[in-house]
Formats: sequence, structure tokens, C-alpha cells
Amino acid sequence: MRFRRGLPLTATLSLTATLGLAVTLGLVATMILINPGTVGGQPRAESPEPDRTAADSAALDLFETCAGCHEDEASSFQRGPHSVLDRDGLAAFHGAVSGCTACHGDPTAHLDSGGEAGNIFAFGEGELANVKSAQCLTCHGDSHPGYFASRHAAAGLDCSSCHSMHSNDGVSRSLLKPTADGTGFPALGAHSGALGGASASCAECHTDVLAEFEFNERHRLQEGILDCSSCHDPHASSARWRLAGFKQQQCVDCHADKSGPFVFEHGAQKVEGCVACHQPHGSPNRHMLTFQSTAELCYSCHAGVPGFHTRFTADSGCTNCHSTIHGSNFDAAFLK
Ligand code: HEC
Ligand code: HEC
Ligand code: HEC
Ligand code: HEC
Ligand code: HEC
Ligand code: HEC
Ligand code: HEC
Ligand code: HEC
Ligand code: HEC
Ligand code: HEC
Repeated sequence: MRFRRGLPLTATLSLTATLGLAVTLGLVATMILINPGTVGGQPRAESPEPDRTAADSAALDLFETCAGCHEDEASSFQRGPHSVLDRDGLAAFHGAVSGCTACHGDPTAHLDSGGEAGNIFAFGEGELANVKSAQCLTCHGDSHPGYFASRHAAAGLDCSSCHSMHSNDGVSRSLLKPTADGTGFPALGAHSGALGGASASCAECHTDVLAEFEFNERHRLQEGILDCSSCHDPHASSARWRLAGFKQQQCVDCHADKSGPFVFEHGAQKVEGCVACHQPHGSPNRHMLTFQSTAELCYSCHAGVPGFHTRFTADSGCTNCHSTIHGSNFDAAFLK
């Protein structure tokens, strides 16, 4: 009830019905329904509606028309972030649309038929994924420019594969879909001490990845220290994701001490990033390394080592001497 101040939705609707669509009463209705100055249903008579345009009023009337038949959707809409689309001035922002038609498009046929299914855009199974996503990207394209080049778009996912517009209960972080097992909404974020909202959402499909967080050596995802979206942007283009520098940036945001720049950088990192040596989700090996034996890890890239190294075995701790393995400002062989 964020924007129908002072009146519950049902009251608003019956009031609207009583007042009808009479143009002369439109201003009064608008004041009661929207005016921030309305207190407990009592409009402050002297408070005018300075910025409302004819388009805004038309949009609001249209919204009420939809709401009259679709109370549940109107209610979820008003508890979610998109309710701003129904606020002053935003009608003008995207043409004379009501909050509903911003996503559902032209309602003429639907209204003319008195509300038949199949004649208004409804993000249905039969629609192409990219057509559905494009509907959202008319507004969210600036923040998610790479979506169509992402692995998720390529796999046929659209925005509503992960986001839910009408089943949210008003608390779901970023409108994430309820989990399939019915345990509720992935509402909790990172640092909450539980599997975070984004992680719970991702885990719906990537169960194999979630299993990697079961290893002893792992990032503490289940405890909410971080979540999948600490490292991944599910909307980002896959090209960006493949770049080593980018991959590394994800890590050094938190592990700043590994970021350098060092006078002597370890070439390993430059090509594949941190994942040249670490499994980012978790691994059975200490420090989430890709090999149990450090020597085997090093020898997987280094064929030529000084002769005295022949005495070292697979169990030798190469990092006992090469202790600044992530880079050094003093020694080219990372000995200090
Ligand atoms: C931000 C975009 C968006 C807005 C705004 C929006 N919808 Fe929807 N609507 C969707 C999507 C996406 C679906 C498909 C189901 C889902 O993802 O929740 C949908 C589904 C529906 C359905 C079909 C539900 C079903 O069970 O099949 C109805 C009816 C509906 N919306 C009505 C409305 C009304 C009325 C409004 C305005 C109060 C509105 N929508 C505002 C995006 C939106
Ligand atoms: C006179 C009542 C009425 C009005 C007004 C109305 N609808 Fe509907 N709408 C319906 C009915 C009935 C259905 C079919 C529901 C069903 O079959 O489950 C429907 C279905 C829908 C669907 C799903 C269509 C589909 O193919 O699955 C959407 C989306 C929708 N309406 C959006 C809107 C929007 C947006 C508005 C306002 C512009 C609106 N409706 C106004 C009665 C109405
Ligand atoms: C007409 C423009 C418009 C369209 C179309 C639209 N949105 Fe939005 N969306 C907004 C605005 C405005 C906000 C509120 C932004 C804010 O509060 O900063 C928002 C908020 C959101 C949020 C919450 C953002 C947050 O910070 O938590 C999500 C998720 C979202 N939209 C997804 C979608 C999806 C999915 C669709 C398509 C089904 C869609 N939007 C269609 C304008 C739009
Ligand atoms: C694979 C799942 C997935 C798909 C597909 C997806 N999203 Fe998201 N989206 C998420 C998750 C998870 C978050 C929350 C990230 C977080 O909280 O750290 C999010 C956050 C958002 C937000 C709010 C925060 C932000 O990054 O701006 C918006 C807006 C949004 N998504 C819009 C969209 C739109 C538009 C589409 C379709 C073009 C889309 N999403 C497709 C999973 C998805
Ligand atoms: C609705 C199912 C679904 C959800 C939810 C989902 N994904 Fe995906 N994801 C896929 C599919 C399908 C692919 C493409 C096939 C593949 O590469 O495994 C994919 C691919 C990926 C890839 C690229 C894999 C590669 O090999 O390049 C990453 C990374 C990824 N997802 C991360 C995430 C994250 C992070 C989230 C949560 C924010 C998430 N996904 C949510 C289905 C999903
Ligand atoms: C600490 C950062 C981090 C976290 C947290 C993280 N990932 Fe990843 N993830 C990566 C990196 C880095 C790669 C690339 C690995 C490579 O290129 O060898 C990757 C690879 C992937 C891939 C493709 C390769 C594969 O293993 O299948 C998927 C899918 C994926 N992550 C999904 C997820 C999901 C889902 C979550 C949460 C449950 C998650 N990731 C959490 C950093 C992270
Ligand atoms: C959101 C912050 C964050 C990001 C991003 C992040 N980490 Fe971590 N990482 C942590 C925290 C916190 C720990 C401490 C382990 C714990 O107590 O959970 C950790 C632990 C580790 C460890 C184990 C340290 C040990 O003592 O065994 C390694 C290795 C590691 N991270 C590598 C990476 C790599 C590689 C990436 C990029 C793919 C990455 N991290 C991204 C926060 C992060
Ligand atoms: C050439 C292989 C290699 C690369 C590349 C690499 N690491 Fe490591 N990392 C190691 C080894 C080996 C250890 C164990 C050190 C030891 O035995 O004391 C380690 C330990 C760690 C630890 C835990 C111990 C500590 O010093 O805090 C973290 C955290 C870590 N690495 C993060 C990263 C990050 C972040 C990156 C990318 C910027 C990265 N590593 C790149 C080999 C590598
Ligand atoms: C993913 C491949 C890879 C792994 C694994 C790796 N390195 Fe390297 N290392 C490199 C590359 C590439 C260089 C730069 C070589 C050059 O510039 O000629 C390098 C450079 C070095 C150097 C500097 C001397 C030189 O040859 O230029 C030392 C010492 C070294 N690595 C030790 C180690 C140790 C010890 C380990 C195991 C903890 C290790 N490396 C693991 C790829 C790797
Ligand atoms: C007892 C200390 C010690 C241990 C243990 C050790 N190294 Fe070294 N390493 C050195 C010294 C000293 C050098 C020579 C540095 C120089 O020539 O400037 C060297 C040089 C190297 C170089 C080549 C550097 C160059 O400049 O070409 C590589 C690669 C290397 N070690 C890898 C390893 C690997 C792999 C292990 C584990 C199996 C290992 N080291 C264990 C002390 C050690």
C-alpha cells in the first residue's frame, strides 16, 4: 500500500467505481488516491496537483481499470519496486502507460473483448525468450546491456526465469522467484548468515555447483559470507566473463593483498587469473588449490627448474621457499 496513501486497495477500487470515470471528478479522485498530502483519507483541500498531466491522469485511470479485474496482480505490483511506474510523472516518462501496460503492452484488444485471455502480451510459454526479455530491457537495458550476449540468454532463459513480477510477497530481494520446493522466497542477502538470496536462486538450476561448496576448503556461501553474485553477474555477457583480468578482478575486490601490482608478478595469474591455481567454489585440497600436492601444481606448468630441485618430491612444500607465490616486490623467484 505504498502509493495509495491512507486507503487500502479495495477501498480505493470501490471509491473509484463510485466516482466512475467522470472527467470532472477525475481530479478529486486523483487527489484522494495519490496525493501525498492525504492523511487518513482526508485530503488537504488546499493542496493542488501541480505536476499531473493529462497523460498521467489517463495512465492512472487505465491502471484502475486493470486493477478492477486483476486485484491480486495490482496488489503485488503495488508492494513491489515497479509501483514507482504508477507515481507522478512516470507516465510521461515512458509515454502514457499505466504501470501495467509498461510490461504488458497495448491493452486495446484485451479491453475491447472485456478481458479475454490470449490477446494481451502475457510473457507466456509460447513467446520467444528474447522477446520477453526485450520488454524488460526497454527500461533495464542501461543497467544490463550485455544480457543478450550472456550464457543465460543463449540457453533460452528470459528475465522471468529468475524474476517474478506477481508472486513476490513484497520482501523478496530483487523480485527473485520463489523457490520451486515452496520453501519461500530467496529473500536473504549476503552477510545474513544463511544461503543468500541470489545463491538460493542460482542453486535452483546449478545444483552441481552448489555441491562444490560442500568441500572442506570452500568459500562460505551457506553461511552467507558471500553469494554467487559476489563473483558472477547473471546478466553479464559471456565474453566479459571469459577475460582473465576480469575474472581476477572478481577475486581481488576481496583479496586485495593478492592484487599487486608487484615488481615481480607471477606469470601464471596473467593468463588464467586466480583460477590457474585455485578452484573458486571449493575443492578438497588445502587453500582450494587445484592439486592436492603443491609440487604437482607447480610442475603442471614448470618443466625447467634448477638442478638442486631434483631432491624435492611431490610432498615438498615448494612455497616453504617460494613464499610470495602471488607476486613479490623483492625477488624474481618469489623467495621473499
Ligand atoms: C514489470 C513488468 C510487469 C508489470 C509492471 C506488470 N506485470 Fe503482469 N506480468 C508480468 C510478467 C513477467 C508476467 C508472467 C508471470 C510472472 O513472471 O510473474 C505477468 C503476468 C500477469 C498476468 C497473468 C497471470 C497468470 O497467472 O497467468 C496478469 C493477469 C497480469 N500480469 C496483470 C498485470 C496487471 C493488472 C498489472 C498492473 C497492476 C501488471 N500485470 C503489471 C510483468 C509485469
Ligand atoms: C473486465 C475485466 C478485465 C479488465 C478490465 C482487464 N482484464 Fe486482463 N483478464 C481478464 C480475464 C477474465 C482474463 C483471463 C483470465 C484467465 O483466463 O485466467 C484476463 C487475462 C489477462 C492477462 C493474461 C492473458 C493471457 O493470455 O494469459 C493479462 C496479462 C491481463 N489480463 C492484463 C490486463 C491488463 C494489463 C489490463 C488493463 C490494461 C487488464 N488485463 C484489464 C479480465 C480483465
Ligand atoms: C517502464 C519501465 C520498466 C519496465 C518495462 C520494467 N521495469 Fe523493472 N523497474 C523499473 C523501475 C523504474 C524500477 C525501480 C527502480 C528503483 O527503484 O531504483 C524497477 C525495478 C526492478 C527490479 C528491482 C530492482 C532492485 O534494485 O531491486 C527488478 C528485479 C526489475 N525491475 C525487473 C524487471 C523485469 C524482469 C521486467 C520485465 C518483466 C521489468 N523490470 C520491466 C522500470 C521498468
Ligand atoms: C539466471 C537468473 C537471472 C536472469 C535470467 C535475470 N536475472 Fe536479474 N537478477 C538475478 C539475481 C540473482 C539478481 C540479484 C543479484 C543480487 O542480489 O546480488 C538480479 C538482479 C536484478 C536487478 C536488480 C539489481 C541490478 O543488478 O540491477 C534487476 C533490475 C534485474 N535483475 C533485471 C533483470 C532483467 C531485466 C533481466 C532480463 C533481461 C534479468 N534480470 C534476468 C537473476 C537473474
Ligand atoms: C532457470 C535456470 C537457471 C538459473 C536460475 C541460473 N542459471 Fe546459470 N545457467 C543456466 C543454463 C541453462 C546455463 C547454460 C548451460 C551451462 O553452461 O551450464 C547457465 C550458465 C551459467 C554460467 C556459464 C557457465 C559457463 O560454462 O560459462 C554461469 C557462470 C552461471 N550460469 C551462473 C549462474 C548464477 C550466478 C546464477 C544465479 C544468479 C544462475 N546461473 C542462475 C541456468 C540457470
Ligand atoms: C568466489 C567467487 C565465486 C563464487 C562465490 C561463485 N563462483 Fe562460480 N565461478 C567462479 C569462477 C572464477 C569461475 C570460472 C572457473 C574457470 O574458469 O575455471 C566460476 C565458474 C562457474 C560456472 C561455470 C563452470 C562450472 O563450474 O560449471 C558456473 C555454472 C558457476 N560458476 C556458477 C556459480 C553458482 C551457481 C554459484 C553460487 C552457488 C557460484 N558460481 C559462486 C567464481 C565464483
Ligand atoms: C566477496 C568477497 C570474496 C570474493 C569476491 C572472493 N573471496 Fe575468496 N575468500 C573470501 C573470504 C571471506 C575468505 C575466508 C574464508 C572463510 O573464512 O570463509 C576467502 C577465502 C579464500 C581462499 C582460502 C583461503 C585459505 O586460507 O585457505 C582462497 C584460496 C580464495 N578465497 C580465493 C578466491 C578466489 C580465487 C576468488 C575469485 C574467484 C575469490 N577468493 C573471491 C572472500 C572472497
Ligand atoms: C601460481 C598459482 C597461484 C595463483 C595463480 C594464485 N594462487 Fe593463491 N595460492 C597459491 C598457493 C600455492 C597457495 C598456498 C600458499 C601456501 O602454501 O602457503 C595459495 C594461497 C592463497 C590464499 C590463502 C593463503 C593466503 O595467503 O591468504 C588465498 C586467499 C589465495 N591464494 C588467493 C589467491 C587469489 C585471490 C589469486 C588471484 C589474484 C591467487 N590466489 C592466485 C597459488 C596460487
Ligand atoms: C598455470 C601455470 C603455472 C603454475 C601452476 C605455476 N606457475 Fe610459476 N610461472 C608461470 C609462468 C607463465 C611464469 C612466467 C614465466 C616467464 O616469464 O618466463 C612463472 C614464473 C615463475 C617463477 C619465476 C621464475 C621464472 O621462471 O620466470 C617462479 C620461481 C615460479 N613461477 C614458481 C612457481 C611455483 C613454486 C609454483 C607452484 C606453487 C608455480 N610457479 C606454479 C606459470 C605457472
Ligand atoms: C629449499 C628452498 C626451495 C624449495 C623447497 C623449492 N625451491 Fe624452487 N628455487 C629455489 C631457489 C633458491 C631458486 C633459484 C633462484 C635463482 O636462481 O635465483 C629456485 C628456482 C626455482 C624456479 C626457477 C626460477 C628461475 O629463475 O628460473 C622454479 C620454476 C622453481 N624454483 C620451482 C620450484 C618448485 C616447483 C618447487 C617444489 C617442487 C620448488 N621450487 C621448491 C629454492 C627452492
